[in-house]
Amino acid sequence: MAFWQHRWATEHIGWHRAVHNDQMVEHWPSIGAPEGCEVLVPLCGKSLDMHWLAERGHAVVGLELVEQGVKAFFDEAGLSPERTEHADHVRHSSGPFTLLQGDALGLAPGTVQADAWYDRAAMIALPDTMREAYVEQLRQQTKSGAVGLLITFAYPQEEMDGPPFALHDEDVQRFFAEGFDVECLERLVLDDERERGLSSITSSVFKLTRT
Ligand SMILES: C[S@@+](CC[C@H](N)C(=O)[O-])C[C@H]1O[C@@H](n2cnc3c(N)ncnc32)[C@H](O)[C@@H]1O
Repeated sequence: MAFWQHRWATEHIGWHRAVHNDQMVEHWPSIGAPEGCEVLVPLCGKSLDMHWLAERGHAVVGLELVEQGVKAFFDEAGLSPERTEHADHVRHSSGPFTLLQGDALGLAPGTVQADAWYDRAAMIALPDTMREAYVEQLRQQTKSGAVGLLITFAYPQEEMDGPPFALHDEDVQRFFAEGFDVECLERLVLDDERERGLSSITSSVFKLTRT
């Protein structure tokens, strides 16, 4: 927790992108999220991908631990959200966006009932030991039949300390083995990321369906 607070406080937010994610733009239309449905974006930061989803007619519910991240998202969008305090989170809402500020792994079951979810740099931001709880939250905060798009990042874990933590295709199969259908849509070799000094880097895109 202190780690993420510190990253925001010191503006070390190298994960943030000024453009929409290519894999999301390419694959989101094919996962079959119902038109106009609510989309959960766990560990959302101030991602501009939330704007892309809203422009497609979705209501967006982001989960973010750090208040500064939530504030930056709304400030940069020129929005003044309504703020309400709840037992385990603070809700900030404006237009199509609702950001729940607090620990995404500590939300009461059913706080969100999303029809779809989008994970870029969320599951890979968490170490292996926290991922079971993360997947359980996806189960608790989505409806049966909900569809998700997951973008992974994988490298030999012993070559670097996370985050991002390696999430291999077989880990995805393992974590989502119960209660989800798992389909790999694309697998990429990221040569342009070699500057990190890693011997191999891949990224996969998965469609997940909550059964
Ligand atoms: C690697 S960043 C990715 C942000 C966003 N998904 C993106 O693509 O730009 C991870 C974000 O998750 C937030 N975070 C970390 N742990 C969290 C938790 N337990 N609950 C909610 N947010 C968390 C961090 O503050 C950070 O903004």
